[in-house]
Amino acid sequence: MKHWSAYIFLVATLMALAGCNKPAGTTAGNGNTIKVGEYASLTGKEATFGISSHEGTVLAVEQINADGGVLGKKIELLTEDDLSKAGEPATVVNKLIARDGVVAILGEVASSRSLEAAPICQQNKIPMISPSSTNPKVTETGDFIFRVCFIDPFQGTVMANFASKTLKAKKVAVFTDGKSDYSKGLAKYFKEGFLAGGGQLVAELDFNGGDKDFKAQLTSIKAASPDAVFVPGYYTDVALICIQAKQLGLNVPLFGGDGWESDQLVKIGGNAVEGNYFSTHYAPDVATDKSKYFVSDYKKRFDGKSPDAMAALGYDSAMVLADAIKRAGSTGGQKIRDALAATKDFAGVTGKTTINEKRDATKAAVILQVKDGQFKYLETVEP
Ligand code: PHE
Repeated sequence: MKHWSAYIFLVATLMALAGCNKPAGTTAGNGNTIKVGEYASLTGKEATFGISSHEGTVLAVEQINADGGVLGKKIELLTEDDLSKAGEPATVVNKLIARDGVVAILGEVASSRSLEAAPICQQNKIPMISPSSTNPKVTETGDFIFRVCFIDPFQGTVMANFASKTLKAKKVAVFTDGKSDYSKGLAKYFKEGFLAGGGQLVAELDFNGGDKDFKAQLTSIKAASPDAVFVPGYYTDVALICIQAKQLGLNVPLFGGDGWESDQLVKIGGNAVEGNYFSTHYAPDVATDKSKYFVSDYKKRFDGKSPDAMAALGYDSAMVLADAIKRAGSTGGQKIRDALAATKDFAGVTGKTTINEKRDATKAAVILQVKDGQFKYLETVEP
């Protein structure tokens, strides 16, 4: 009996020394990999955002590992689904940090969810890179929070100019998701830009993301006779808004930002989304060399699927992180943070990434039109 308990004690001590005394669910404790966390909306109402972003990230990690990994180790990607739901990002990011011991975190697409998890990463001094959240507040959370995309003051201005110059709209209505940080921010910057360019706002209404009936607000919008309607929302809501606008005889162009981008926009919206416009980060048909390889690698890896902006930015976010870990020569949070902040002209699929003093990137936007059920590239707008 006695030597049995001594044996247990010895095993427990050795396990503790080897770092194995972590709670159940821990994947590895042997230090042979560099653990990177990812949180994404793999299911729920913005599932296509999370799936695309995740696929881009997976492709990057596989390529990095095939090239020998980073600092002599393979990257191990630990992905958590946040269900497209408020409350989940905090839970899963806490898990990734406390349970799994990740050295950095990639995510999210949606600004409200990035804003929920960013303070946790900041407090734990774990660098976070959002691939595609565009609300300025995300990186304002603190010096451990980065992004590899443009921000909405730029995107809003791009679409304000597009409204007045290309659509020749003088009177515009704005229809905003009042619960979404992304939607509120983009609406604000659009309005500032459009007014500054001499345009007139004839109606400003709110909706609740996830609602099914938008007719009351659309009736008020129609009564204001706008030349076009700016809808800074996400694809599920936008598709229903386009359908109901048509049903009410509101036959003017609707246009929006990157949140429109999903094959579901066309699947749900059908004919009602035809002819409408949105801005985003990337179009596979404007092919730089990097982008050409990316498109063909992605198609090969994901059953012929064409990559969208979230896939491209997911890919770039993982590549930028791997580059920073290499330059840092360490997986320490502070060291990775400093290397990320020093990122300059890193050539990726979405263009060159330089992290500025606000930890944002400056990149071009593209404007696409829904044409015959596809997204047709119209123009690139440089910053
Ligand atoms: N920019 C959006 C946000 O901040 C998310 C998004 C990015 C959506 C890219 C589509 C494409 O919420």
